[in-house]
Order: sequence, then C-alpha cells, then structure tokens
Amino acid sequence: MSLQNQEREQWGSRAGFLMAAIGSAIGLGNIWRFPAEAYKNGGGAFLLPYLIALLTAGLPLLILEYTIGRRFRKSPPAAFRQLTRPAEAIGWWQVAICFVIASYYAVIVAWAVRYAGFSFGKDWGKEPEKFFSSDFLHSAPDVGLPSSWVGGVFWPLLAVWVIVLVILGLGVRKGIERANKIFIPLLVVFFVVLVVRAVTLDGAAKGLDALFSPDWGQLTNGSVWVAAYGQIFFSLSIGFGIMVTYASYLPRRADLTNSALVAGFANSSFEILAGIGVFSTLGFMAQAQGVGIDKVVTDGVGLAFIAFPAIISEMPAGALFGVLFFVSLAIAGLTSLISIVQVIISAVQDRTGARRVPVVAVVGGFSAVVSLLVFPTDVGLAILDSCDHFINQYGIALAALVFLVVVGWVLRRLHQFQAHADETSAVKLGLWWRVCLGVITPIVLGWMMVDSLRAEFEENYGGYSTTFLGWAGWGVAGGALLVGVVLAFIPWRDAPDSDVEKTDAAGNPRATEADNAGEVH
Ligand code: ALA
Repeated sequence: MSLQNQEREQWGSRAGFLMAAIGSAIGLGNIWRFPAEAYKNGGGAFLLPYLIALLTAGLPLLILEYTIGRRFRKSPPAAFRQLTRPAEAIGWWQVAICFVIASYYAVIVAWAVRYAGFSFGKDWGKEPEKFFSSDFLHSAPDVGLPSSWVGGVFWPLLAVWVIVLVILGLGVRKGIERANKIFIPLLVVFFVVLVVRAVTLDGAAKGLDALFSPDWGQLTNGSVWVAAYGQIFFSLSIGFGIMVTYASYLPRRADLTNSALVAGFANSSFEILAGIGVFSTLGFMAQAQGVGIDKVVTDGVGLAFIAFPAIISEMPAGALFGVLFFVSLAIAGLTSLISIVQVIISAVQDRTGARRVPVVAVVGGFSAVVSLLVFPTDVGLAILDSCDHFINQYGIALAALVFLVVVGWVLRRLHQFQAHADETSAVKLGLWWRVCLGVITPIVLGWMMVDSLRAEFEENYGGYSTTFLGWAGWGVAGGALLVGVVLAFIPWRDAPDSDVEKTDAAGNPRATEADNAGEVH
C-alpha cells in the first residue's frame, strides 16, 4: 500500500509535539554558538538585537512554518508545490541543506559522546588544544583532500547514526515523540545542575559581567544585527524545513500560534541559561589564571572542546561537571539531529509513497555513509567548519528569503495563512505578523546576504585557501541549491497539485475524516 493511501502519522499529544519542536530547537547552537556570538557582538547589548530578531523574524516565521506544515500536511517540497509548482524547488533545496547539516552535525554529537568518556580521566592532560587537534582529530597541518581515517571519531559517529536511524525507523509517535519525552526532561535536569554549579564557582560574577555588560556602541554595527538574525534562524530551526515537517504531523485542530510561542520562548530561555552557565565557568577560568575574560573566550568548537576541558581540569569535581556538560551537549545535539534527518525522510516518503522503514534504511543510511566517509578524516574539522559557515550564510538565510518573497510578494498568501492559523489558535495574529514577514524579515535577510558576500570577497573565510573554499564551501552551498532545482524537475507519481481546488471559497482547506481524527489541544 502506498503512502498516498495511508493516513499520515500524527503526534500522540500536544505535549509530545511541543517536546519534539523544543528538542529540535535546543541544540548545539544554544550551548556553544549563542554564548560566543553574544560575547563577540556587544555582550549585553547583543540581547536587544537578539530579542528584536526573535520577535520580528523568529516567532513570525515559526508560526508561518507551523501553519504551512499543518495546512498541507506534507513535507516542504510537497507542501510548497501545493502553493505553486516551481516553489517545490525551495522545498528540495531545504532538504539538501538538511542533508549537508546532518552530515556534519552528527560529527559534533559524536565528539561530545567521546569527550563525555574522556572527562572521567581528564584524558586531554595539560594541553587540551593539542589533544583535540592532534591526538583526537589527527588534523592534517595542510588542508587538502582527506588522506587518513580517524577511528576515534568513526566509531562514535557510527553509534550516533545507528541511534538516530533506529529512532526515526520507529516512527513519529513511537520514535521521535517518545525519544524527546525522555531526552528533553533529562537535558533540563542536567543543565540546571550544571548552571547552578557554574554560578556558584569563584569568579562567576566576572564572567557574567563580561556577558551582560552592554557595549552600546555595537548596536550601530550592522554585523551585530546580522549575527542576531543568523543566531535566531539556526537556533529556532527555521528556514530549513524542520518546523514545516514537524507541523505536518499535527491534526487539523491543533493550536498553532500558542505552540510556536511556547517553543520559541522555551528555546530562548534555554539559550540565555546556557549563556549564564558558560560565562560563569569562563569567569572561573579567567580568575584562576589571573587573565581577562577575553583570553578564555573562543568560538564554538574551541569553546566546547578546548576551553571547557581546560576548565574541567581546574575545577573541583571537574570530572562530574565534564561528564554532565558533554552528555548534555550530546543529548541537545541528538534531538536536533533527529529533526534534521526527519526532513529528508519525510520528503522522500511523500515523493515516492514508500514506507518509513525502507526510506530510513536507504536514505538515512546514505546520509550516514556520506557523513562517515567525509568527516572522520584528517581534514574533517576544516570541511565541517567551512560547510557550517557557507550553509548557514548562503543556504538557510537565502532559502528563507526566497520563500518569504514567494509567499508574501509573489503569491500574496500571508492573509490566507493568517486566517488559517487564527482559525484554531487562542492567540490571534494581527497586521504586525504580516509586516514582519512581508517587509522587515525579507529586508533584513537581503541585507544579510549582501553584507556576508561583501565580507567573503574581502577575506577568505577562516583563512582557508581559495581552492579549498571553492569546493568545500561554495560547492556545498551552491550544490544544495542545484540539487533542489534538479529534484523539483523530476516528474511526480501521484503528484499533489496546486491546492486551489481543494480549498473552500475562503481559501481554507476542506477537511477530510482523517483531518478531524485524533485532535490535539
Ligand atoms: N536548532 C538547532 C540548534 O540550535 C539546529 O543547534
């Protein structure tokens, strides 16, 4: 029986859906990306652009993605195709972005698993930086083609992929929902313990001072605003199809706006809590070494895998702190990784009508093989770093921009989606929602593109060679776009057509029996 004849899977409860959405949002971006971004971009002053980005872009787009997912009950390519056929390419483009992100995101989760183990014996010794790049990653001094395999990364990475694929194979309710219901409360408990310990360390106040002392001058710096919008997109998992996919498993009567507000604020609260925890710990380190906080703050990878091990070696009961920190990082990453791979699975299921388990085995297995071939190598870190930069700057943000221009300006459907969300939501949307999505966010995203491109041509990202960035960076970002367009041209079997004929006079979809079953309130 093909999927077209089967009922679409559904979440078991609203709490289950919310847990999964929050699990997707809270990820590596919250724990290591946010604190470093906040510090780099004006400390306390970053919070203002961050909140404005949350209110003007993050939450409105999250509501729109929930609405489109729930309305069409399809993964992004099929859902966007129902808006207008060419828009299917945006959906495939997002699927390709998820494929790239999943392949390297899994590697960071694998590192975290391994470092949880290293924490017991503080195996990095006195030189965590050397341990990370030489002993653990076996990084090549010159970045080029991969020339050797790194078993210490390969095996934990294989374990991460097996766990993810088993959970996905079990399905939306029995796999994703159940896993998030276990992992998210566990993560919150671990993280609260970590933060309480961190803020009671000597020197914590010094770290918090650095994080929250505003440098107001930074507010006139355009790149601070770009960083704030970028952080919100990655952190809320918007712009790459995840929330459309997760909302496609909601029943027709589910409250959308309220759910988006809960997920959005839960994510930001966790993010700020992570900032407090990380900076208290960095303050401890700065005090212990008698140096300024700027000497101990580094970027994401350095923060988690170099600065934190150094701190764990110094602090009382450091091994326990280390295990809790890396296990939290692994759990946060795992629940987000599940959602990223689910976008690919769901799109292929909708496209082929095949059942979940074979699709997970073949498509999920293929993603795992690519990840296992490319990243546990001596140039894995450099490839990961440039893929992450290019896919974020030119993949996610550009896909979101094109999507908003198509929905808001070309098709002019924002009114209709507002009515659709309002129909079942306690909180009603207003003109502000359409202004945010139709005017503010596209302008900011367009500006982000121009600003990032300008920086790209001024200086090679990360100091890598032009040849390396050509294939690893631009190749990946441009390749994702190309794959999206090519896939959209392959003819569909049982293709979903434009939704016009399936809507009533007001443009609302006609409900089916399946739609009304299993309501979630
Ligand atoms: N939203 C996920 C994160 O923050 C992808 O890492």
